[in-house]
Amino acid sequence: MKIIRAEHIGFCFGVLEAVNICDSLEKVNNRKYILGMLVHNAHVMATMKEKGFEVITEEELLKEKDDLAKGDIVVIRAHGTSKKVYEKLKNRKVKIYDATCVFVSKIRKEIEFATEEGYSILFVGDRNHPEVRGIISFANDIQIFSDIEEAKKIIIDKEKKYLLSTQTTLNKKKFEEIKEYFKNSYRNINIFDKICGATAVRQRAVEKLAKKVDRMVVIGDRKSSNTKKLYEISYKINEKTILIEDEFGLDLAFFREAETVGIAAGASTPEVIIKNIENKIRGI
Ligand code: F3S
Repeated sequence: MKIIRAEHIGFCFGVLEAVNICDSLEKVNNRKYILGMLVHNAHVMATMKEKGFEVITEEELLKEKDDLAKGDIVVIRAHGTSKKVYEKLKNRKVKIYDATCVFVSKIRKEIEFATEEGYSILFVGDRNHPEVRGIISFANDIQIFSDIEEAKKIIIDKEKKYLLSTQTTLNKKKFEEIKEYFKNSYRNINIFDKICGATAVRQRAVEKLAKKVDRMVVIGDRKSSNTKKLYEISYKINEKTILIEDEFGLDLAFFREAETVGIAAGASTPEVIIKNIENKIRGI
């Protein structure tokens, strides 16, 4: 059986940066916390706990149910956080290490700037996603929607100025369609297109690979938005696709009679997990 990896697989730039920030703090003796999930992968979080990090949630911090003290270290996860949480952390005089991915912070800064300039924000994304909850907290006047149907229902005031932006991990084709609609229908909408390249290249690589293999294995955390999207794309092309989190979730019966197996992995999936799964498929 031949195993073929997607051209782009596993840790993206932002996740790698966030993991590196935590690794660089491993030997520091201060109490260490990560705000929420550093990245959407339970295996990465388990490794961080072994390195001495504890997790603190935004809710605990906002309700002051945490035991943070001056000088403690708090690493802000790759998806970023909300304005209120930043303010709280500053007031608590903890040492902040901001691991927010550069793509997320670019969108956040653009929205903050546009808000100060009087723009109303149109935002495409999942309002329950931590990245989106963080970004939208920097806007005063914002409408959030998730697809072209919802976009068409939005009432645009021709007297106002708008900024259209998006969650970093949104499907590029979906955003193109929404962009075209707004561009062709209105003249008072500026567009800030910062869909993360890492997501798009992983999506294209899956599209390519799923067409030519007998089975597809998408590896990543079920809570990870970009992993779920890779799975959806692959499943549409090749119904013999599974989504698994680690080698323990792998049923070898799935590979019966397969000659080729494609492997894809979400941007927060560690290389060691991918290797373990490949080894299990090979029977090692
Ligand atoms: Fe950043 Fe893109 Fe990764 S937004 S965290 S480089 S998927």
